[in-house]
Order: sequence, then structure tokens, then C-alpha cells
Amino acid sequence: MKKVNTNNFKKTLSKFSTGITVVCVKNNNSIYGKTVNSFNSLSLSPPMVLFSLGHYSSSIKKFSKTKFLSINILSSKQKKISENFALTDPNLEDIKFIEGKNKTVIIPNCIANLECELIEKIKRGDHIIFICKILELQSNDKLKPLVYFNSKYF
Ligand SMILES: Cc1cc2nc3c(=O)[nH]c(=O)nc-3n(C[C@H](O)[C@H](O)[C@H](O)COP(=O)(O)O)c2cc1C
Repeated sequence: MKKVNTNNFKKTLSKFSTGITVVCVKNNNSIYGKTVNSFNSLSLSPPMVLFSLGHYSSSIKKFSKTKFLSINILSSKQKKISENFALTDPNLEDIKFIEGKNKTVIIPNCIANLECELIEKIKRGDHIIFICKILELQSNDKLKPLVYFNSKYF
């Protein structure tokens, strides 16, 4: 075993394969989205999930102030969407967002979508953990997931 530093921390954690989500909020008719793979399920009853965002992120205030948000789990065909929402200023023009029931915007053609209410934020280290209650959800059995492993998409 080695002592931890930023490089070996990042490299070691990259060996944990994840799906990819884009978390979206709508604020005063503007849409903000961020590519996030720190997503996980938290609780069955009530149904809750969590993810974390760096507190240094350009849109952290938009996410922190929102009451509702969507979590869009990407399919294997949506690598470009993941790359787009990892940019500070993603291109929103090519995405035909669907209006959700709870003042959310949904990305179409995902393997799954969740509409959530933001319940709690917990600051730990350089990230903020967002704890969300699921209000509505849908999934598609025919699509395959976009997978991230070793800093590459599969
Ligand atoms: C595959 C992938 C997963 C990511 N997951 C997270 C995450 O869970 N939390 C986070 O804060 N940023 C994550 N990021 C980084 C953000 O998407 C984004 O690139 C970063 O916050 C810089 O954007 P900003 O300048 O708008 O802050 C991820 C990026 C990629 C490519």
C-alpha cells in the first residue's frame, strides 16, 4: 500500500467503473447541466439518491439554490452529451429538453431519468453532497448504459 496523494487517489478511484449522469436545473428560464458520475442510490424508503459537486464548480450556486432537479442517466449513444456537459459553457441548442412535472427539464433518449426534490446539502472536503428525494422516474430496457472506467468511456 502507498500513502495517498491527489494523483494516486484519482488513478485508484478511476478503477471503479460508473455510469454517467447529467444533472440539470432550470432557473429563471435558464438551464444548467453538469456531467456527474458521483451519483448513487441512498435510500429505498423514502426513495433517495445522492451525488456530489465540487464547490468550485462554475454553476454550484444554481444547483445549491434549486428546489427541484433532474438526474439523467446516459445511454451508450450519449457520449457527446457527457462531454458537452463537462464543459463550463455547454451547448444547449442541440438538446430538445422535455419539461418535467416538477419545474425540471429532462434530457430525451436517456437510459433513465429521475425528477427529484433537493432535500439536503452537506459540505465535505472540496465537494457538496446533494441528497435528493425521487418524485418521478422512468427507464428504458432497450438501451445500454454509458460506462466510465479508467477515465475512458465504454
Ligand atoms: C465522466 C465525468 C464525470 C464527472 N463527475 C463529476 C462529479 O461527480 N462531480 C463534479 O463536481 N464534477 C464532475 N465532473 C466534472 C464536471 O462535469 C465539470 O467538468 C467540472 O465541474 C468543470 O466544469 P465547471 O467549469 O462548470 O465547473 C465529471 C466530469 C466527467 C467528464
